[in-house]
Amino acid sequence: MTPSFENLLVTGGCGFIGANFIRHLLHETGFSGRIVNLDLLTYAGNPENLAGVAEDFPDQYVFVHGDVADEATVEAVFDAHRVDAVCHLAAESHVDRSILSPEEFLRTNVTGTFRLLEAARRRGVRFHHVSTDEVYGSLVTGLATEQTPYRPASPYAASKAASDHLVRAYHATYGLFATISNCSNNFGPYQFPEKLIPLMILRALLGQELPVYGDGKNVRDWLHVTDHCRALWEVLVRGQAGETYNVGGGEQLDNLAVVRQICALVDEAAGPLASGPRENLVRFVPDRPGHDFRYALSVEKIRAELGVAPRETFEAALAKTVAWYLENPAWVARVESGEYREWIKANYEGREKGAS
Ligand SMILES: NC(=O)c1ccc[n+]([C@@H]2O[C@H](COP(=O)([O-])OP(=O)(O)OC[C@H]3O[C@@H](n4cnc5c(N)ncnc54)[C@H](O)[C@@H]3O)[C@@H](O)[C@H]2O)c1
Repeated sequence: MTPSFENLLVTGGCGFIGANFIRHLLHETGFSGRIVNLDLLTYAGNPENLAGVAEDFPDQYVFVHGDVADEATVEAVFDAHRVDAVCHLAAESHVDRSILSPEEFLRTNVTGTFRLLEAARRRGVRFHHVSTDEVYGSLVTGLATEQTPYRPASPYAASKAASDHLVRAYHATYGLFATISNCSNNFGPYQFPEKLIPLMILRALLGQELPVYGDGKNVRDWLHVTDHCRALWEVLVRGQAGETYNVGGGEQLDNLAVVRQICALVDEAAGPLASGPRENLVRFVPDRPGHDFRYALSVEKIRAELGVAPRETFEAALAKTVAWYLENPAWVARVESGEYREWIKANYEGREKGAS
């Protein structure tokens, strides 16, 4: 289906999912319009995630360094690039960081979403909000559907819940063409190694201890990022105004099982350690406060209404992901040493924000 828009604003495009999504748009969807990537380049934003894109697609891709919570920047981007659709991914995204310093989460996730909604409302621009299954909170049994009441437990989840509510309110009150997707845990290339899967891959490779919260029994539904990107495109193009779509892998695993699989894959790829199999490196550490025990999503609606279902199995996608981290030591080294921040400073510090 041909999209009804030509100038798509992607926020947070230098982050993990944003970078995968921009690559997906350019390589897999046949989208011939322009992509404007608005990103503040926080610690999680790494322009190297989009290496080659500006050179390979000079007429289709433009980067703007700026803050979604800054009204002047957002307004200027909408006008300068004649934005006619938004896929909003920019966020503070790490639960542990939200426990230590929640304020930034409110600023970016809530105020930032509000600024974008205002700009979209004034111009009648189609708006998609990329959200999380964490808004539903912990489930004892069963699956969360799009009707399940919100019960966020972390400041991160609460900030995403608040922004979802704002998006719904803008549809109900102002008639904005808005959609929301609530997605489960993603994994794949370019994920910042503070999140479980890349963290464990890289620590296992180095033979370092593998810290696992609590007893490792917390359950998550995992989705390979390319399956998320395909779902986002379908919702952007064919989603119905005011609708919410759950996006998930339908494979629920406890954290310990995930870490064990990673250990086995790294043992196989890198050879075992002299001290024995890497799963011996697992160390249980005190649980995260407010740690939700179980997330599990019903993905029936998006399958039935938009024909979207995951193509990757967890096992195969995890093997590909381990291989990617092992095959990209230069990316890993620059992220781990903080060298990518030096590059950002050299290229962007002193330049006016909002400049492309
Ligand atoms: N990673 C997951 O498993 C997952 C699952 C479901 C939903 N989500 C949602 O998907 C989106 C992307 O997640 P991710 O894992 O790629 O996050 P990420 O942390 O890797 O990337 C976030 C990006 O947003 C940018 N950013 C942060 N604050 C900004 C601001 N004020 N203005 C402009 N840019 C800013 C960062 O520089 C970075 O490039 C988020 O909205 C997140 O809530 C993530």
